[in-house]
Amino acid sequence: MTTILSGTALSHDLAIIRSRDTHVDVFRAAVHRIGLHIAAETLKYLPSKQHHVDTPLETTTVDVIDGNVVVVPILRAGMGLLEPFLALCPGASVGFIGLKRNEETLQPNEYYRNLPPSDASTTFIVIDPMLATGGSMVATLDLLRPLPHQRLLVACLIGAPEGVHAVDDAHPDAHIIIAALDRELNDVGYIVPGLGDAGDRLFGTT
Ligand code: PRP
Ligand code: URA
Repeated sequence: MTTILSGTALSHDLAIIRSRDTHVDVFRAAVHRIGLHIAAETLKYLPSKQHHVDTPLETTTVDVIDGNVVVVPILRAGMGLLEPFLALCPGASVGFIGLKRNEETLQPNEYYRNLPPSDASTTFIVIDPMLATGGSMVATLDLLRPLPHQRLLVACLIGAPEGVHAVDDAHPDAHIIIAALDRELNDVGYIVPGLGDAGDRLFGTT
Protein backbone atom coordinates (compact mmCIF):
# COMPACT_ATOMS: atom_id res chain seq x y z
CA MET A 1 0.00 0.00 0.00
CA THR A 2 1.26 3.48 -0.87
CA THR A 3 0.02 6.79 0.52
CA ILE A 4 0.98 9.93 -1.42
CA LEU A 5 0.61 13.21 0.47
CA SER A 6 -1.02 16.31 -0.97
CA GLY A 7 -1.65 19.90 0.08
CA THR A 8 -0.62 23.39 -0.88
CA ALA A 9 1.86 24.05 1.95
CA LEU A 10 3.57 20.75 1.20
CA SER A 11 3.68 21.45 -2.52
CA HIS A 12 5.10 24.93 -1.82
CA ASP A 13 8.01 23.38 0.09
CA LEU A 14 8.49 20.69 -2.56
CA ALA A 15 9.00 23.52 -5.08
CA ILE A 16 11.74 24.93 -2.82
CA ILE A 17 13.65 21.67 -2.48
CA ARG A 18 13.31 20.79 -6.17
CA SER A 19 14.82 24.10 -7.30
CA ARG A 20 18.49 23.90 -8.26
CA ASP A 21 18.89 27.47 -6.94
CA THR A 22 17.93 26.67 -3.33
CA HIS A 23 20.85 27.02 -0.90
CA VAL A 24 21.67 24.38 1.66
CA ASP A 25 20.23 26.23 4.66
CA VAL A 26 16.88 26.87 2.98
CA PHE A 27 16.87 23.33 1.55
CA ARG A 28 17.43 21.79 4.99
CA ALA A 29 14.69 23.88 6.61
CA ALA A 30 12.18 22.96 3.88
CA VAL A 31 13.05 19.25 4.21
CA HIS A 32 12.40 19.60 7.94
CA ARG A 33 8.94 21.10 7.32
CA ILE A 34 8.07 18.46 4.72
CA GLY A 35 9.34 15.87 7.17
CA LEU A 36 6.72 17.04 9.66
CA HIS A 37 3.97 16.41 7.07
CA ILE A 38 5.40 12.97 6.31
CA ALA A 39 5.81 12.11 9.98
CA ALA A 40 2.25 13.23 10.82
CA GLU A 41 0.86 10.99 8.07
CA THR A 42 3.11 8.02 8.83
CA LEU A 43 2.32 8.06 12.54
CA LYS A 44 -1.37 7.63 11.73
CA TYR A 45 -0.51 4.04 10.81
CA LEU A 46 1.06 3.06 14.13
CA PRO A 47 -0.79 0.27 15.89
CA SER A 48 -3.02 1.64 18.64
CA LYS A 49 -4.82 0.38 21.71
CA GLN A 50 -7.43 1.88 24.01
CA HIS A 51 -6.34 3.58 27.20
CA HIS A 52 -8.37 4.97 30.10
CA VAL A 53 -7.57 8.52 31.21
CA ASP A 54 -8.90 10.32 34.28
CA THR A 55 -9.52 13.90 33.23
CA PRO A 56 -10.37 16.40 35.99
CA LEU A 57 -14.04 15.77 35.09
CA GLU A 58 -14.45 12.09 34.29
CA THR A 59 -12.79 8.96 32.99
CA THR A 60 -12.56 8.68 29.22
CA THR A 61 -11.06 6.27 26.68
CA VAL A 62 -8.46 7.34 24.13
CA ASP A 63 -6.27 5.59 21.55
CA VAL A 64 -2.55 5.44 22.38
CA ILE A 65 0.41 3.89 20.58
CA ASP A 66 0.49 0.13 20.96
CA GLY A 67 4.06 -1.10 21.39
CA ASN A 68 7.38 0.55 20.85
CA VAL A 69 8.54 2.49 17.81
CA VAL A 70 11.98 2.31 16.21
CA VAL A 71 12.78 4.96 13.61
CA VAL A 72 15.51 3.81 11.23
CA PRO A 73 17.15 6.52 9.10
CA ILE A 74 19.17 5.18 6.17
CA LEU A 75 22.45 7.10 6.40
CA ARG A 76 23.21 9.60 5.35
CA ALA A 77 20.28 11.40 3.79
CA GLY A 78 17.74 9.74 6.08
CA MET A 79 19.08 11.96 8.88
CA GLY A 80 17.26 14.86 7.23
CA LEU A 81 13.92 13.33 8.24
CA LEU A 82 14.87 12.15 11.74
CA GLU A 83 14.15 15.30 13.73
CA PRO A 84 10.60 15.69 12.40
CA PHE A 85 9.83 12.09 13.36
CA LEU A 86 11.25 12.49 16.85
CA ALA A 87 9.38 15.78 17.27
CA LEU A 88 6.06 13.98 16.74
CA CYS A 89 7.02 10.65 18.30
CA PRO A 90 9.42 11.58 21.12
CA GLY A 91 9.33 8.16 22.72
CA ALA A 92 10.76 6.40 19.67
CA SER A 93 14.12 4.67 19.69
CA VAL A 94 16.47 5.19 16.77
CA GLY A 95 18.36 2.54 14.82
CA PHE A 96 20.87 3.32 12.09
CA ILE A 97 21.62 1.63 8.79
CA GLY A 98 24.47 3.04 6.70
CA LEU A 99 24.10 2.36 2.99
CA LYS A 100 25.89 3.92 0.03
CA ARG A 101 24.60 3.27 -3.44
CA ASN A 102 27.31 2.33 -5.94
CA GLU A 103 26.60 4.88 -8.65
CA GLU A 104 27.68 2.48 -11.41
CA THR A 105 25.88 -0.71 -10.40
CA LEU A 106 23.15 1.16 -8.39
CA GLN A 107 23.53 -1.57 -5.74
CA PRO A 108 23.59 -0.45 -2.06
CA ASN A 109 26.67 -1.29 0.02
CA GLU A 110 26.16 -1.53 3.77
CA TYR A 111 28.83 0.19 5.90
CA TYR A 112 27.10 0.57 9.27
CA ARG A 113 24.38 -1.08 11.33
CA ASN A 114 23.32 -0.21 14.88
CA LEU A 115 19.80 -1.28 15.80
CA PRO A 116 18.18 -1.30 19.23
CA PRO A 117 16.51 -4.49 20.47
CA SER A 118 13.01 -5.07 19.12
CA ASP A 119 10.12 -7.31 20.15
CA ALA A 120 6.80 -8.49 18.79
CA SER A 121 5.25 -5.09 19.57
CA THR A 122 7.81 -3.04 17.60
CA THR A 123 6.95 -0.87 14.63
CA PHE A 124 9.96 -0.10 12.46
CA ILE A 125 9.70 3.16 10.50
CA VAL A 126 12.41 3.34 7.84
CA ILE A 127 13.10 6.90 6.69
CA ASP A 128 15.00 7.99 3.59
CA PRO A 129 14.28 11.01 1.37
CA MET A 130 14.73 9.19 -1.94
CA LEU A 131 13.15 5.94 -3.13
CA ALA A 132 14.84 5.57 -6.51
CA THR A 133 15.50 1.99 -7.68
CA GLY A 134 14.31 0.91 -4.24
CA GLY A 135 17.53 -1.08 -3.74
CA SER A 136 18.49 0.70 -0.50
CA MET A 137 15.00 0.43 0.98
CA VAL A 138 14.56 -3.24 0.03
CA ALA A 139 18.00 -4.07 1.49
CA THR A 140 17.00 -2.33 4.75
CA LEU A 141 13.64 -4.08 4.94
CA ASP A 142 15.39 -7.39 4.16
CA LEU A 143 17.55 -7.00 7.25
CA LEU A 144 14.70 -5.80 9.49
CA ARG A 145 12.27 -8.51 8.35
CA PRO A 146 13.82 -11.37 10.40
CA LEU A 147 13.89 -9.23 13.57
CA PRO A 148 10.91 -9.36 15.95
CA HIS A 149 8.38 -6.72 14.93
CA GLN A 150 4.69 -5.99 14.49
CA ARG A 151 4.65 -3.55 11.56
CA LEU A 152 6.95 -2.08 8.88
CA LEU A 153 6.40 1.49 7.67
CA VAL A 154 8.43 3.25 4.97
CA ALA A 155 8.56 7.05 4.87
CA CYS A 156 10.16 8.94 1.98
CA LEU A 157 10.15 12.36 0.44
CA ILE A 158 10.20 11.56 -3.27
CA GLY A 159 9.66 8.19 -4.89
CA ALA A 160 10.03 6.86 -8.42
CA PRO A 161 7.50 4.29 -9.66
CA GLU A 162 10.38 1.81 -10.01
CA GLY A 163 11.25 2.12 -6.31
CA VAL A 164 7.67 1.86 -5.13
CA HIS A 165 7.17 -1.30 -7.20
CA ALA A 166 10.43 -2.82 -5.93
CA VAL A 167 9.35 -2.36 -2.30
CA ASP A 168 5.81 -3.58 -3.02
CA ASP A 169 7.14 -6.71 -4.74
CA ALA A 170 9.68 -7.59 -2.04
CA HIS A 171 7.72 -6.45 1.05
CA PRO A 172 4.02 -6.19 0.18
CA ASP A 173 3.04 -5.65 3.82
CA ALA A 174 5.26 -2.56 4.21
CA HIS A 175 3.14 0.58 3.96
CA ILE A 176 4.90 3.34 1.98
CA ILE A 177 4.20 7.00 2.76
CA ILE A 178 5.70 9.53 0.33
CA ALA A 179 5.34 13.26 -0.20
CA ALA A 180 5.59 12.99 -4.00
CA LEU A 181 5.64 10.28 -6.64
CA ASP A 182 7.75 11.42 -9.59
CA ARG A 183 7.73 10.34 -13.23
CA GLU A 184 10.64 7.93 -13.58
CA LEU A 185 14.32 7.17 -13.13
CA ASN A 186 16.75 8.53 -15.68
CA ASP A 187 19.43 6.37 -17.28
CA VAL A 188 21.85 6.92 -14.37
CA GLY A 189 19.30 6.01 -11.69
CA TYR A 190 18.25 9.49 -10.59
CA ILE A 191 14.62 10.37 -9.94
CA VAL A 192 13.21 12.86 -12.45
CA PRO A 193 12.15 15.56 -12.04
CA GLY A 194 13.42 14.86 -8.49
CA LEU A 195 15.73 17.14 -6.57
CA GLY A 196 19.17 15.76 -7.41
CA ASP A 197 21.31 14.06 -4.79
CA ALA A 198 19.49 14.37 -1.46
CA GLY A 199 22.58 13.69 0.67
CA ASP A 200 24.69 16.26 -1.14
CA ARG A 201 21.96 18.88 -0.97
CA LEU A 202 21.29 18.27 2.74
CA PHE A 203 24.91 18.26 3.79
CA GLY A 204 26.42 20.75 1.35
CA THR A 205 28.69 18.21 -0.35
CA THR A 206 29.09 17.47 -4.04
C1 PRP B 1 20.54 7.92 -1.75
C2 PRP B 1 19.23 8.04 -1.01
C3 PRP B 1 18.84 6.61 -0.82
C4 PRP B 1 19.35 5.96 -2.09
C5 PRP B 1 18.19 5.77 -3.01
O1 PRP B 1 21.56 7.65 -0.86
O2 PRP B 1 19.32 8.75 0.20
O3 PRP B 1 19.41 5.99 0.31
O4 PRP B 1 20.30 6.86 -2.66
O5 PRP B 1 18.58 5.07 -4.14
P1 PRP B 1 18.03 3.61 -4.46
O6 PRP B 1 16.57 3.62 -4.21
O7 PRP B 1 18.36 3.44 -5.92
O8 PRP B 1 18.77 2.63 -3.61
P2 PRP B 1 23.09 7.44 -1.29
O9 PRP B 1 23.36 5.98 -1.54
O10 PRP B 1 23.44 8.37 -2.40
O11 PRP B 1 23.88 7.79 0.02
P3 PRP B 1 23.92 9.13 0.89
O12 PRP B 1 22.62 9.20 1.64
O13 PRP B 1 25.08 8.87 1.80
O14 PRP B 1 24.14 10.31 0.00
N1 URA C 1 19.56 9.22 -4.66
C1 URA C 1 19.35 10.57 -4.61
O1 URA C 1 19.83 11.25 -3.70
N2 URA C 1 18.64 11.13 -5.60
C2 URA C 1 18.10 10.42 -6.60
O2 URA C 1 17.43 11.00 -7.48
C3 URA C 1 18.33 9.03 -6.63
C4 URA C 1 19.04 8.45 -5.63
